[in-house]
Amino acid sequence: MILFKEAAALSGYLEKQQKKGVSIGFVPTMGALHQGHITLVTASTENTGLTVCSIFVNPTQFNDPADFKKYPITIEKDLKMLSDAGADVVFLPDVKEIYPDGLEKVRTYSLGHLETILEGKYRPGHFQGVCQVVHRLLEIVSPDILFMGQKDYQQCMVVQHLIDLYAIPTRLVKCSTIREESGLAMSSRNMRLSDTERQKAAEIYRTLQYVEQSILPGDLADIKGKAIDRLINAGFRVDYLEICDANNLNIIETWDGKSPLVTLTAAFLGDVRLIDNLVIIHS
Ligand code: PAF
Repeated sequence: MILFKEAAALSGYLEKQQKKGVSIGFVPTMGALHQGHITLVTASTENTGLTVCSIFVNPTQFNDPADFKKYPITIEKDLKMLSDAGADVVFLPDVKEIYPDGLEKVRTYSLGHLETILEGKYRPGHFQGVCQVVHRLLEIVSPDILFMGQKDYQQCMVVQHLIDLYAIPTRLVKCSTIREESGLAMSSRNMRLSDTERQKAAEIYRTLQYVEQSILPGDLADIKGKAIDRLINAGFRVDYLEICDANNLNIIETWDGKSPLVTLTAAFLGDVRLIDNLVIIHS
């Protein structure tokens, strides 16, 4: 596994590989890796000739500076996990490699309604930050395939929007959410939960399953209310729980029984904010 800290050196190396006909897979991360990330790396090693993984805790996507400060850093463990998983290249840039013109001079992106709903509404500026870092990383790595986790459903949509907006010649592959045995979606933030909280946190997935199993065509206010009450009764502070069109994330108030749906939620357990979603498969 080769380690790069400088963008120009990494781009030069990858350009040579691409000229030889090697296809590049890319897994961007903020470190604090878990099995969910490793599944993305495995998807890349199985489908491309060379797998690049980046570790960079991106300051511009944290709307809450305290959250940025608390973000777990486990670099030695991360590198071992990536090497064991068969990653070929790791990119470990510092801030000036990603933001050469400084953090004040950043691009802005036209993201439409994706920026004003769900995560966009509760974390103002978050998706601008995600686009800034992902756009820059895509320029540096020029991957054939970008692998991202469906746990961040809205982020995947934003990144697809970015790819379309700039006609970036990269295919986005969304990989399924990896869950603990309890159903809790794997996340770097889970490291900040106590054992008891970790068990409690599995109620998020049970609530999403409850919506999937109980939903009927018609007005969705009642089922949404019941799902939110379940989370509150289990000790969560709920930012949102919404049932949306799975293709465009428009919030659905009345369901026709046909359009594909996804339930998405964000809720705090103590001071840890967790997100999850479940696509509703119906016949
Ligand atoms: O999902 C993440 O870990 C981050 O948002 C990403 C895509 C690595 C950008 O910093």
